[in-house]
Amino acid sequence: MALASAAELPSPREPGAPYRVCLVCLGNICRSPMAETVLRAELAAAGLDGAVVVDSAGTGDWHIGDAMDPDARAALARRGHDGSDPESHRARQFQPSWLRERDLILAMDARNLADLRRMAGAEDADRIRLFGDVGGLTETSSGDIPDPWGGGPDEFGHVLDLLGAAAPVIVVRLARLLETVAE
Ligand code: 4NP
Repeated sequence: MALASAAELPSPREPGAPYRVCLVCLGNICRSPMAETVLRAELAAAGLDGAVVVDSAGTGDWHIGDAMDPDARAALARRGHDGSDPESHRARQFQPSWLRERDLILAMDARNLADLRRMAGAEDADRIRLFGDVGGLTETSSGDIPDPWGGGPDEFGHVLDLLGAAAPVIVVRLARLLETVAE
């Protein structure tokens, strides 16, 4: 499987503890909770669900406490993701203190990436990456997962196509990182 970005993933802050990944979009009601569901399923399929923990947040505060957008849930359900995660999601705003509490922060688009990098000091900047870059999408596109909010099934389906292409690449990279650390 081709890996787009030559950069290694950031080392675990606490070797031996679960590797913590936070997925970040703008509202935390569409893309990042969809990505959370897709990435968790891919990690579980690779037997890495205990070794890597995934959560999500938004850079904005408009939707704090809200459930996942119904169109996002419907899109996940159409692809067979109808477990409990989409039901229990409550949107949160990314807090700068979380930068130190995660090993890797994956932004859904360039705006989310810039907003997160503005919050971070130089020592944490390398832990903040574009989801699509780590997931190999920049070989063929900008790497952005486009905002589907207010769109229709096609927009949400396109988001899931991109997430579904990137997530296995991210999981391979995480597996390699954790193998290297364990050696
Ligand atoms: P998300 O979508 O960032 O993928 O959760 C959005 C949800 C809400 C808004 C923008 C994007 N909003 O402007 O409220």
